[in-house]
Amino acid sequence: MVRLAREVLAAHPGDPLRARRALDVRCPDATPDQARAALAQASLQLRAASRFGTDADDLLWSDAGLAAASRPGCTQRRARRLLAAGVTEVVDLTCGLGLDAIGFAAAGLNVLGVERDDAIADLARRNVAQRGLDDRVTILVGSCQEAVSWEHLPRQAWFVDPARRDPGRVRADGSHIRLDDAERWSPPWSWVKAQIGVPQVLLAKAAPGIEHRLLAQSDDGDESIDTEVEWVSEDGQLLEAAPLWRRQHGAMGCVPRGVRRRAVVLGRSPIELGSGTAAAMIGQEGPAAPPEPGEVLFDPDPAIVRAGLVAELARAIGGRLVDEHLAYLVVPDPLPQSWRAAARRQWRVLWVGGYRPEAMREACVDHGIGQVDVTGRGRSLTEDRVRRDLRLRGRPHLQRRGTVITMGMGPRRSTIAVLGGIVTEA
Ligand SMILES: C[S@@+](CC[C@H](N)C(=O)[O-])C[C@H]1O[C@@H](n2cnc3c(N)ncnc32)[C@H](O)[C@@H]1O
Repeated sequence: MVRLAREVLAAHPGDPLRARRALDVRCPDATPDQARAALAQASLQLRAASRFGTDADDLLWSDAGLAAASRPGCTQRRARRLLAAGVTEVVDLTCGLGLDAIGFAAAGLNVLGVERDDAIADLARRNVAQRGLDDRVTILVGSCQEAVSWEHLPRQAWFVDPARRDPGRVRADGSHIRLDDAERWSPPWSWVKAQIGVPQVLLAKAAPGIEHRLLAQSDDGDESIDTEVEWVSEDGQLLEAAPLWRRQHGAMGCVPRGVRRRAVVLGRSPIELGSGTAAAMIGQEGPAAPPEPGEVLFDPDPAIVRAGLVAELARAIGGRLVDEHLAYLVVPDPLPQSWRAAARRQWRVLWVGGYRPEAMREACVDHGIGQVDVTGRGRSLTEDRVRRDLRLRGRPHLQRRGTVITMGMGPRRSTIAVLGGIVTEA
């Protein structure tokens, strides 16, 4: 019936009444409650498909579960990290609708899922069965805060993905508000960290903006724990920070101190950049300097910025920082395909100077630019203000589009402006 409900919704987009009438015609024996439930589930599946692709439209969803579910790329990445750590079975302590559990099992891991909400656990079991993975996944109802003291709970690897939305505050569209305070997540972040070293491997998912200090062990933490955090992005959107804390048997003194950081940019040509990679170790980055006309300026992917790996990226690609406090890089030519995903946007630099609207207007006219996008860092000049200052309206012969990038540079944060032409894909 959910499949039929999806068909009628697709046939009558934006018209739920007609969809409902069409469903009643196709399922004359269904009760009003059944029809309503099928349409609600079908519309969640359509939303899931628009977010995760058609892979997701055979699963059962809830509003909150859909908002919290991990993307397939993140889940696969997580499974690979566990496999690389030699893990064969994992306890998913907050399994929700089971997206991560399904990803782990599909990668060959045995999974024990724990979920405190009975109804969600039931949907998760049906999702696991839908994927034919029920021989590898068991889902139990309970609180993970109690489950960790169950005598027979496996202790090879645990995964925790705390609920980060406020169940008590709902927006007009029905969505729940995100909680910034990690102590209000469920389970709270301090509880997650208190589990470090209890299983051999503890993997967690956190909001990507979580403070770096919250990802490190406490100063008096166990010295045999290795910490590696990954920040993951896809399509220019920063998705999560995922710390993995691993107890190294007999490795006292050999475990690197501090937190190893890695940025992972998912996509067709994925990129990984780490604070411990060879690229990060070679030499020092050259002095930072503003871009020059003819060079290519780019905006690194947010996973690289958030992981604090912009200088490492500069070394790896032979580029330079524009300013040590600004996440912009300069390279002589557009990035090659193998590094393409490291940039959110790239611009061929056409003009550079102080924020002088007349000179900038002249540069626009010289390059045939009649419309500009505006972006920048370290200096707040609104789009409206820059467009107003440029006064480019009413010049139809200027057909090209450019970008004005404003930057507050140096100790006095003086503004420089860059006029760039968007580098088109090869
Ligand atoms: C962010 S969701 C997990 C999503 C899951 N990783 C996925 O991709 O489908 C968090 C889930 O943890 C559950 N949860 C919250 N606190 C819990 C607790 N103390 N014990 C067990 N489950 C809990 C919530 O009900 C919610 O379903």
